[in-house]
Amino acid sequence: MNLDNIVKELTLEEKITLLIGAGISKTILGAAGETRAIQRIAIPSVVLSDGPAGVRIYPARLSDKKTYITTAFPNAVLLASTWNIELIEKVGKAIGEEAKEYGVDVMLAPGLNIHRIPLCGRNFEYFSEDPLLSGEIAAAYVRGIQSVGVGATLKHFVANDQETNRFFINVIASERALREIYLRAFEIAIEKSNPWAIMAAYNKLNGRYCSQSPWLLTKVLREEWKYEGLVMTDWWAGDDPIEQIKAGINLIMPGDDNIVKRLLEAYKQGLLDEKTVNDRVSRVLNLVLKSLKYQGYTPSFKPDLEKHSEIAYEAAVEGFVLLKNDNALPLSSSARIAVFGKGSYFTVKGGLGSGNTYPKHVVSVVDGLRGRGITIDEELDNIYRKVLPSFWGNVDFMNSIRRSRIDLIKEADALGVSWLLIDFTEHMLEYLNNLHVPENFLDINVLEGIAYRNDVALITISRISGEGFDRLPLKGDFYLRDDEFDLIKKVSEVFHRFNKKVVTILNVPGPIEIDSWRDLVDAILVVWLPGQEAGRAIADVLLGRNSPSGRLPLSWPNNLYEIPTMRGFPGEPKNNPVKVVYGEDVYVGYRYYDTFNVEPAYEFGYGLSYTEFEYRDLEIRKENDMVKVKLKVINVGRYPGKEVVQVYIKPPQGRIDKPIQELKGFQKTKLLNPGCEEEVEIVIPIKYLSSFAEGKWTVERGIYEVRVGSSSRRIKLSGYLELENDICFDVSWNRTRCNEGN
Ligand code: BGC
Repeated sequence: MNLDNIVKELTLEEKITLLIGAGISKTILGAAGETRAIQRIAIPSVVLSDGPAGVRIYPARLSDKKTYITTAFPNAVLLASTWNIELIEKVGKAIGEEAKEYGVDVMLAPGLNIHRIPLCGRNFEYFSEDPLLSGEIAAAYVRGIQSVGVGATLKHFVANDQETNRFFINVIASERALREIYLRAFEIAIEKSNPWAIMAAYNKLNGRYCSQSPWLLTKVLREEWKYEGLVMTDWWAGDDPIEQIKAGINLIMPGDDNIVKRLLEAYKQGLLDEKTVNDRVSRVLNLVLKSLKYQGYTPSFKPDLEKHSEIAYEAAVEGFVLLKNDNALPLSSSARIAVFGKGSYFTVKGGLGSGNTYPKHVVSVVDGLRGRGITIDEELDNIYRKVLPSFWGNVDFMNSIRRSRIDLIKEADALGVSWLLIDFTEHMLEYLNNLHVPENFLDINVLEGIAYRNDVALITISRISGEGFDRLPLKGDFYLRDDEFDLIKKVSEVFHRFNKKVVTILNVPGPIEIDSWRDLVDAILVVWLPGQEAGRAIADVLLGRNSPSGRLPLSWPNNLYEIPTMRGFPGEPKNNPVKVVYGEDVYVGYRYYDTFNVEPAYEFGYGLSYTEFEYRDLEIRKENDMVKVKLKVINVGRYPGKEVVQVYIKPPQGRIDKPIQELKGFQKTKLLNPGCEEEVEIVIPIKYLSSFAEGKWTVERGIYEVRVGSSSRRIKLSGYLELENDICFDVSWNRTRCNEGN
């Protein structure tokens, strides 16, 4: 039966039933939800599962003895740091394959909110402060998932850029800021990947819940952008299901029978009409018909986990960002390494909440180094193993739980308590990973002995964050705890006295303050939350088997107070905010730093490599509605490596006040051996040069400087492009007349 016939066949009750989810999934343990089935006409229930770092289902089910292991991929902020479209498509495809083989029809990913403030508790699930980078990476991720027949969901539409009071906070933002930054990321991703679904955010936008906003869900999404997919609510979002359906929601999640009753009642009272119900339900059915479930696919329960762990490893390696390197890295494979910091023993794989994953293993930094045959200082390792238990349990015991919990779960299943055990072990691991462990327990004499017999000190500083909370309190999160600072200071003093290097690894969901300690150490490698293969990937980058090629997808601040978006954080009134005003307008991230000439700790797009690249022969051409930027990139250093070529455009300052420059295109090279080169061509649609003012998009006439570089501040080549006339577009990107009153 085709879609129209099915809609005709359904009773009104059935149609309304389909608009409301069936609650948290009962078919797949751990999946976030499912739609309702209409058995009479063989409409199955489709399963929706989180999330951005991999399929979040429980590794065992009550009903059978099988295991359902999924891969913990690196978190979104790391994926964006790769700037590698093909690689992200590969990650998306692997996630899609796991969903497919476990019977998940739609992934609730990727997350596409903007890193407006570094403290947002869910930034690890989001890509960047820049809408172009976010949109392009999201599109690649969606294309990957959907290439295997599983749906992807862009979330959270829109401006859910902080967690404090997320269920009701009212975001006040100008239409320009929304169009150029917050909506733009979604718009690009929709245009380039056509996602099956979009999830409306919890928060209010300019006074209305996003899930109840006709402007957002009907005018912008359907009428202007012509989006044809399904729009669902976030879980328990908003306060009025009737308003939600009227505004443009197709599916209320997770849903319950009371909402079905309320909607039926509303229909009887004339508050909802049949045309609206038909429109809303047709998109739910459209998704169901596309689903593998409807197509009769039988999951194998055997995804290729080995292949996927290699993809998780590959992505991790490419997303690490080397911030500093004073001749400390790469390490020699014969180096003797003293490994400090709780995070080296319990490396944080990912964030908490719906973006969490439950893999079979997580390779810690020490295990990764050992796996590569590196000599670790065993005495220090033993000290950590002995000292840590007195604070928070036994490392070996915890690791054995991690390794064998699947067996435990199976045994417990026989006793009927597996659900409890799954939850218990997951939470215990997370809890222990998070516990504050004083780091300054080493006696100075012991430390001297360690420095004497090793070549290098490695210190891992770990942070975790998660859904529902922003990164507060600041001390111990954005700022180091005193004991962590002490550890860095003491280890650096002693190792430097012995002429040995100190390398710091930042295992963090977002920036932390480094200004007060970065001069103490020789190298800083940001590994973000790198997923299950963490330690393997870290070891290989430290050892120079891979040159770091990640670049910051955000501006790394010196301190919080220099960031304009932090001034109003977390909103008004401060103690329990109901409103947050985006007073900085479009000046978010580097748009602020660069325009107002403020120096961040490390700029957007920044990242060192072990090798060096030269840029040559820049050519800029305008062809129809495209700007073509061509150049050669040559590896002039001593190691193989990949470069991220970034194109920033500095517009003429005409009538519209604009950021001094914006990222308009980028490309990562292939792996270039020393002496090798690649010709890179980056094509930028002319519409990308526009600003939003007076209800339309305008590319102002004048001279544009095309700046090509390895970061927003390391511009290596530049050229010019002149536009003689203004070019204007309406909100659907059709060419339109410009106001010629200038
Ligand atoms: C989160 C979503 C998630 C949903 C289902 C919500 O709390 O905001 O991102 O997809 O739960 O787990």
